[in-house]
Amino acid sequence: MGFSPLDMGCLGAAGALEEAPLRAFPSWRGPVLTTLLLFLFLYGYGSMKYVLFPYLAFGQNHFYQLPLETVNQTLPAVAMVTLALVYLPGLLAAGLQLSRGTKYRRFPSWLDCWLGSRKQLGLLSFLCAGLHGIYSMCLSIRRAAQYSLLNAAYRQVRAEIPNSWVEEKVWRSDLYLSSGILGFGVLCVLALTSLPSVGNTLNWREFTFVQSGLGYAALTLTVMHTLFFGWDMAFSPGSYSFYLPPMFVLALVLPCVVLVGRLLLALPCLACRLTKIRRGWETKRPRTDQEVGITNGVVADG
Ligand SMILES: Cc1cc2nc3c(=O)[nH]c(=O)nc-3n(C[C@H](O)[C@H](O)[C@H](O)COP(=O)(O)OP(=O)(O)OC[C@H]3O[C@@H](n4cnc5c(N)ncnc54)[C@H](O)[C@@H]3O)c2cc1C
Ligand code: HEM
Repeated sequence: MGFSPLDMGCLGAAGALEEAPLRAFPSWRGPVLTTLLLFLFLYGYGSMKYVLFPYLAFGQNHFYQLPLETVNQTLPAVAMVTLALVYLPGLLAAGLQLSRGTKYRRFPSWLDCWLGSRKQLGLLSFLCAGLHGIYSMCLSIRRAAQYSLLNAAYRQVRAEIPNSWVEEKVWRSDLYLSSGILGFGVLCVLALTSLPSVGNTLNWREFTFVQSGLGYAALTLTVMHTLFFGWDMAFSPGSYSFYLPPMFVLALVLPCVVLVGRLLLALPCLACRLTKIRRGWETKRPRTDQEVGITNGVVADG
């Protein structure tokens, strides 16, 4: 009939196999839960630091920020952390291969599972980044922004300041917006190659170039976007109100760890050894039968 046989285990697996077509989004459960928990944690953090604590401590009413501003702080932070979670398991896999000196040993099942969830994590990160882009476009058309602008203009007139141009702020905003838009553009390319109709037209090398190479480019651009956004605020004690670091600092930790890890792996001594291992070279001994066949094709298909 033209079907390819596939070994799915013993007869006892039949029950689970019959249920397989009825399961809804099984591969999305872990990544969606992770993203949701991250969102809830960071939204709670942002609400407390920027809304609740100022109200309790100084009676300032910032509750109007909850539906849009706080969401637009949380979404990009979630996007950054999830994007880092896409590239972290690859580094751990490389570390394991380096320490074991072979690619012919199974990764632990948690790492295997994590490596297999990267596509879903990446697409969820893309979704959060896209929503953040749209939210950001709407920042200036909000009533709150219009009132703030009017109030600032009034204060400026009263203070008789003819020109409020601050060169540093102009550079900062243009730099962070530009790197954010570029980062999002690269993420769009990654999302496009996820479509089976596009991904299937690429060979393994092209797919790896886009997913791995451009993926790291997207991560670097979004880290730059956040660094330009933060500018010198990370070093200003005022940003650490209530002894809590600003949201963008939290968002930067994991992506920076991943980028540093990637740079370390690019050191010639490690990179050469890793390339040899990926090509099948082994340090100590020939592989045993139980160790055969595992890590090839870690990059999942589209
Ligand atoms: C918007 C978006 C969409 C995405 N869509 C997809 C998608 O459709 N499909 C998908 O798989 N991922 C997708 N991802 C996730 C991610 O981009 C890819 O998984 C990417 O390939 C990860 O690159 P990497 O360099 O971290 O890991 P990899 O290139 O997978 O390498 C991980 C580790 O595997 C080992 N390894 C690599 N090559 C070999 C080899 N030849 N032999 C033995 N071991 C090897 C090494 O230890 C390496 O460090 C997407 C991400 C985003 C943001
Ligand atoms: C269309 C592209 C993008 C635009 C127009 C954009 C715009 C903005 C704007 C205007 C801000 C400041 C928000 C504020 O003042 O509260 C901001 C902050 C931020 N952006 Fe983006 N951005 C884009 C893409 C991205 C992407 C792809 C990421 C990461 C994946 C990202 C991560 C962040 C982070 C972490 C912050 C700091 C949030 C905070 O702590 O307040 N952005 N961006």
